[in-house]
Amino acid sequence: MKEDWLKKGYVDEPVEKTIDLKSEIKKLCKEKNAVILGHFYQSDEIQEIADFIGDSLALAQWAAKTDADIIVMCGVHFMGETAKILCPDKKVLIPDFNAGCSLADSCPADRFSEFVKQHPDHTVVSYVNTSAAVKAVTDVVVTSTNAKQIVESFPADQPIIFGPDKNLGNYINSITGRNMLLWEGACHVHEKFSVEKIVELKKQYTDAEVLVHPECKGAVAKLADKVGSTAGLLNYAKQSEKKNFLVATESGILFEMKRQCPEKNFIPVPPEDSTCACNECNFMRLNTIEKLYNTLKYEWPEVVVDDDIAKDAIKPIKKMLEISAKLGL
Ligand code: 13P
Ligand code: SF4
Repeated sequence: MKEDWLKKGYVDEPVEKTIDLKSEIKKLCKEKNAVILGHFYQSDEIQEIADFIGDSLALAQWAAKTDADIIVMCGVHFMGETAKILCPDKKVLIPDFNAGCSLADSCPADRFSEFVKQHPDHTVVSYVNTSAAVKAVTDVVVTSTNAKQIVESFPADQPIIFGPDKNLGNYINSITGRNMLLWEGACHVHEKFSVEKIVELKKQYTDAEVLVHPECKGAVAKLADKVGSTAGLLNYAKQSEKKNFLVATESGILFEMKRQCPEKNFIPVPPEDSTCACNECNFMRLNTIEKLYNTLKYEWPEVVVDDDIAKDAIKPIKKMLEISAKLGL
């Protein structure tokens, strides 16, 4: 590996303008027995070429069952780590190593471990948007698809720490009647959705249903017809009789919404401080089709998780997958 790649965090090699990138990527996948998993927040062209696209839970479930030798995680770093922890013998690649997550970063493992130690009688429930080291001090991992059911699987009087997303934590408290102790973390993308922009759009699209990801602030979630994970919002839109939807989550999800519901109209809610129409996650969008091609060709950057951390982190991830399977999620 070149020093320059290491500095940049991705393979910075020119890609021939004349090659058909999509068919070359498919060819490399076949040669190397590699699978491309992509999150709904990836660019349209990555979603088009991925073998599987889904929300965080589905990506973990898919990683756990694939028999590919190489997993290319087109998402952010914690998604690559989760795949690596579940598949320690496989090579897990990520097109750009800088694809982090502000929510995961809002919960440094040393501070979170200290917080956990201060509350020894609490069960620790962590959102999947966390580092492997945070998962290693967690009892059960959740995603926004299964958080409600997993929290409710504990007795009502069980004290619980929930981290790192205070918005998701507050939302789960509000729908379960729990009083979980919350870590003060947040996602910089979802925090930018505002009541004002939704109210403004509602004047234009009076009959539209409002779809909100639970990482948004509570006041925004209160305006929602549906609060849910990316997959939850997609499924809601599919079964709804309405035609127009205001979508308050990262705008990448619109690609699959439009693909699955071509007769419906999806309007992205813009961030509060901007005149641009879409709210995109700058980390997710670091992955490009050229970087995807290079990561497969050069098999770098590779996601690595320390063995001791992985040994502890796998337990709460497996617990989440077991509970989800029992619930049919
Ligand atoms: P989902 O699990 O709903 O896809 O969420 C992932 C994420 O990063 C939300 O910001
Ligand atoms: Fe993290 Fe927010 Fe980006 Fe999701 S949208 S990956 S929570 S920074």
